[in-house]
Amino acid sequence: MRYLITGGAGFIGSHLAERLLDRGEHVVLLDNLSTGSMENIRHLKSRERMEYHLDSIENRRMVAELVDDADIVVHLAAAVGVRLIVESPVRTIETNVNGTQIILEAAEKKRKLVLTASTSEVYGKSTQVPFHEEADLVLGPTTKGRWSYAASKALDEFLALSYWRERKVPVIVVRLFNTVGPRQTGLALLLRRARYGGIAGAADGYGASDRRSGEYWEHGRNLDWRPCPGSENAHRKFFEDYLRAVRSGVRAGI
Ligand SMILES: NC(=O)c1ccc[n+]([C@@H]2O[C@H](COP(=O)([O-])OP(=O)(O)OC[C@H]3O[C@@H](n4cnc5c(N)ncnc54)[C@H](O)[C@@H]3O)[C@@H](O)[C@H]2O)c1
Repeated sequence: MRYLITGGAGFIGSHLAERLLDRGEHVVLLDNLSTGSMENIRHLKSRERMEYHLDSIENRRMVAELVDDADIVVHLAAAVGVRLIVESPVRTIETNVNGTQIILEAAEKKRKLVLTASTSEVYGKSTQVPFHEEADLVLGPTTKGRWSYAASKALDEFLALSYWRERKVPVIVVRLFNTVGPRQTGLALLLRRARYGGIAGAADGYGASDRRSGEYWEHGRNLDWRPCPGSENAHRKFFEDYLRAVRSGVRAGI
C-alpha cells in the first residue's frame, strides 16, 4: 500500500511513517516544516519505499498529484500548539480548514480513503463523561482565540463526513487525545513544567505528562525514550497503543 502522510515530519506523522515502513509499506510524506522538522525524519530518508516533499497542503496542484498516486491518505498536517493557535488564529483556521478541504477535494477524483486527525478538544467543555461522538458540542466563545482550534477541527469533521455523504469519498475521522513523546514540539517545556510545576500543561489543558503518577519522560539528545528515575514504561506503552489505534483506524477503512 502507498500511504500519503500529510504532516509527516511532525511528531505523530514521523512515528507513524516509521511503523508503516517497518511493515514494508510505501510512505510519502508532505510537510512544510512549520512545526515539524527534518530531524524527525532524517533517519528515514535512506529507507527504501520512502519519499518526502517539503511543501504545503495548500499547494493544490502538488496535493492533487500526491493524492492521485496514493492508496490511502493520512491527513495529520495542521496548525497545532497552544501558542500558535492563540497568537495566529487566522493561520490556524486557514491551515486546518482550507488544507483539509484541499485534501478531500483531491481525494474525490478517485475516491481515495482519507483518515483525518481531529482532536479531543472538540469535546470542549462537555461534562458528559464518558465522551461520545454523538454528544452535543459545548465550545467556548469565539472571542477566545484558543477555541478556534477546536472549532476548525470540528469543521474538518463536518467537511469529511459531508464528502462521504454527498460524494462518496471514504473517510475516517479520529479524535486524538493529547499525548507526549520524542520529536514533539514544545516537549522540553512540558517536561520542565512537569518537574517544577506539578502536572505538565494542566493549566492550559495541553500536555499529558502525568506528574501525579510520577511518570514523565526526558527528551534524550538522541531523541530516544529515556524513563526518568523511578518511572515505569507506561508512557511508552501508551504511545505505542496510540499509534496502533491510528493504524487500526486506517485498516478499518480498507
Ligand atoms: N499530539 C497530540 O497530542 C494531538 C492531540 C490531538 C490531535 N492531534 C492532531 O494530530 C495531528 C498531528 O499532530 P502532532 O502532534 O504530530 O503535531 P505536529 O505539529 O508535530 O505535526 C503537524 C505537522 O503538520 C505540518 N504542517 C502544518 N501546516 C502544514 C501545511 N500547511 N502544509 C504541510 N504541512 C503542514 C507541521 O510542519 C508538522 O510537521 C494534528 O492534526 C493534530 O491536530 C494531535
